[in-house]
Amino acid sequence: MALVKVASTSELRENGGKEVNVNGTRIALFHSGGKYFALEALCRHQDKPIAPGKVDGEVVECPWHSWHYNIRTGELLDFLEGVRLTTYKVDVRGSDIYIDL
Ligand code: FES
Repeated sequence: MALVKVASTSELRENGGKEVNVNGTRIALFHSGGKYFALEALCRHQDKPIAPGKVDGEVVECPWHSWHYNIRTGELLDFLEGVRLTTYKVDVRGSDIYIDL
């Protein structure tokens, strides 16, 4: 486990997402409700990036075929039970966003 700086808060608008790459691991960051979230970047449907998806509260909609995930828990909210993207702990210090890998 190590804290890694991945972005600045100014790079993520409210209800926005951004993908970062940390040592080859693709991670989607989201900003919603004044909080920041980090999870696996690729949708479990067809491995497409979810960071450009529309965010509504704690839910992001995959921009490709509209699967929905909870950005806090990583849980898939459609069809299949028990499908979950890996989530990462986020720590915001000043204007810097860190995640725990
Ligand atoms: S790749 Fe995400 S819903 Fe199809």
